[in-house]
Amino acid sequence: MTEPRNLKKLIAEMTLEEKAELCGGADFWHTKGVERLGIPAIRVADGPHGLRVQKQADDHLGIYMSEPSTCFPTAAGTASSWNVELLREMGAALGEECQAAEVGILLGPGVNIKRSPLCGRNFEYYSEDPYLSSRLAAAFIEVVQSQGVGTSLKHFAVNNQEHRRMTVNAVLDERTLREIYLASFEGAVKQAKPWTVMCSYNKVNGEYASENKYLLTDILKEEWGHEGFVVSDWGATNERVKGLAAGLELEMPFDAGSARIMESVQKGELSEEVLDQSLERLLAVVFKAYDSKKADAMYDRDAHHQLARKVAHESMVLLKNEDHILPLPKKGKIAVVGELAVSPRFQGGGSSHVNPNKIDDILSELAKAAGEAEIIFSQGYKLAEDAVDPPMSLEAVEAAQKADSVLIFAGLPERYESEGYDRTHLSIPANQLSLIQEIAAVQPNVVVVLSNGSPVELPWLDQAKGVLECYLGGQALGSAAADLIFGDVNPSGKLAESFPKKLEHNPSHPYFPGEGDSVEYREGLFVGYRYYDSKAIEPLFPFGHGLSYTSFEYSNLTVDRYDMLDTDTLTVRLMVCNTGSRAGKEVVQLYVRDVQSQVIRPVQELKGFAKVELQPGEQKMVSFTLGKRAFAYYNTELRDWHVETGEFQIIAARSSRDAGKSLTVHVTSTTTIKKTFTRNSTIGDILADPVARAIVEPLLKQNAGVQEDDSDAAHVSMAMMMDAPVRVVVAFSQGAVSEEMVEALLNRINEQNQSS
Ligand code: NOJ
Repeated sequence: MTEPRNLKKLIAEMTLEEKAELCGGADFWHTKGVERLGIPAIRVADGPHGLRVQKQADDHLGIYMSEPSTCFPTAAGTASSWNVELLREMGAALGEECQAAEVGILLGPGVNIKRSPLCGRNFEYYSEDPYLSSRLAAAFIEVVQSQGVGTSLKHFAVNNQEHRRMTVNAVLDERTLREIYLASFEGAVKQAKPWTVMCSYNKVNGEYASENKYLLTDILKEEWGHEGFVVSDWGATNERVKGLAAGLELEMPFDAGSARIMESVQKGELSEEVLDQSLERLLAVVFKAYDSKKADAMYDRDAHHQLARKVAHESMVLLKNEDHILPLPKKGKIAVVGELAVSPRFQGGGSSHVNPNKIDDILSELAKAAGEAEIIFSQGYKLAEDAVDPPMSLEAVEAAQKADSVLIFAGLPERYESEGYDRTHLSIPANQLSLIQEIAAVQPNVVVVLSNGSPVELPWLDQAKGVLECYLGGQALGSAAADLIFGDVNPSGKLAESFPKKLEHNPSHPYFPGEGDSVEYREGLFVGYRYYDSKAIEPLFPFGHGLSYTSFEYSNLTVDRYDMLDTDTLTVRLMVCNTGSRAGKEVVQLYVRDVQSQVIRPVQELKGFAKVELQPGEQKMVSFTLGKRAFAYYNTELRDWHVETGEFQIIAARSSRDAGKSLTVHVTSTTTIKKTFTRNSTIGDILADPVARAIVEPLLKQNAGVQEDDSDAAHVSMAMMMDAPVRVVVAFSQGAVSEEMVEALLNRINEQNQSS
């Protein structure tokens, strides 16, 4: 154990210049140190699914080569595993690789919400759902950090597109901000305490994230209790001094702002205390990383490759499996078609680009797994082009025709999706589209194996019996896909995002990517399944969908109480049975639905999930714990999470569109919202308030005629009255009720409400 350092004392020994300079990076991948005071510099490196340590020429866009490391599947895939334990194993491996490469902080994970499938960086993000995203991120962060390596939770916040990412202003209402976009960060910050958080390039409601005090200090540091430091995304700093005052401790990659910081302190515009506090947060992490360095750390490359294969198994999603075409029999003749089978697309472009230490060759992995089956390959299309190459596609069609079944490797070429820009459509290249259709015309047994970082449209879906979504499967894509295709491993991934039938169905579509430098999140809370489910629009594949080679049955959904306070926790249990003939894993999803609400809410929201492994015939109980947040919405008046008293449906589901079992519980709020009524409050709102109702009801009862009249006319006038302001009573009472009487009544109600 190293002695705890007295950071305050250390900072007091620094010159103003040294202090200011420490607030910026030394180069692309290092913080600055101060030799005379024994302050070390630490190395940081991308990225979420593999290490990108550059020792020679450096850049932050993945252009120059980096040192070899293990390339795991990207987050779009790992999220489809819904497997927290697996994320932990992957995090531990990355932690080891960081130690071996002397990396103090790993720049990930990325938890931005997938607002639109067009976002070029969706492959690096987990989900359209904040609960799933934050749980997975938390598991990953905890384990990387347990290896003595920090993480950088990114990109904080509301960075959901690449288009104009450095200047765009994301405009959204407070509930949407809190319930969707910040919630993805909040859970991870609170649960896993990332050593650093990386602020995003964009503006949020008019203020650059890098100088947004509301986000960086009020919410992140004060409300959520983040103790580490905030680092700017590379080049995200706008005004350095404003950023520092708002809570941005470190500017990366280079120190461009120290002269301004010094000047501001000298002129008295920035208090030196603010600078000192920033340094304290910064140095605490720098020393933690430095002190946690393991001498001579090494890792086992083969073991990590095998882990990448295991992670890839669960990152792939079996989208369709008509006639049980998969797994393929290990005999007969199988045509493998498509350049993606020989030039695999297993990671995304940009700063997360890894130089893999090994890449599985798909064809030889398929041949290994295929047993007695004969594999014939045909290129079919040119990945670098969109146009059809007629002789090439003809050869593939002929090969497919002669085979018993065909595996078509299709998907998005690298140029289609990357950090730095967004897609404009969801189509795969025209040459691949037409090849799939031509092959399907001559061969009934078509399986399409997809490699893409984000949803694509599948206009040929009816013509393919099987579809395996591999996402960007990492360096072991080939062996992992072969394991699933031939049934040596049972698929268990489920989508962490909805696949729309067409782009236009996506809720953000009309507003994405905005106008000029402004993007308004007009769909509000209705992101992904929250929209499709609330609007009853059938997606191509719903959130949470994924098939298996076995089948699962749900039974005995139980709760430990049917009536609870919002301060209680609810334990939900479900029995899951493997009713098929193969071992497999099932992802059970728990959705909560507020049966009736005064505020606008999505029809259901994910609040729990569990992955369970079962042998044929085996059954296991899975359990979930739901606390206040599972029932709450963000109340902007209270500036807090709030549960409306009432009924909530608990739904144990196979996907957001496939509810297995459900039951209803009653939750009572322990927070009363104290209302103040005025003469413009509606009669309906007044009667809905229990305190007011107790006062007003006896008065209404005096008017017995209205109470007993059950005619249509009485119903209509009652309905109209409910929405009328209380002042109207004076106007219609023909002098019987005066303004003074109404005022006195309102005063009585308001006083009682305040004191209750
Ligand atoms: C920019 C990217 O947005 C960020 O994710 C990455 O960590 C930094 N560059 C460093 O490469």
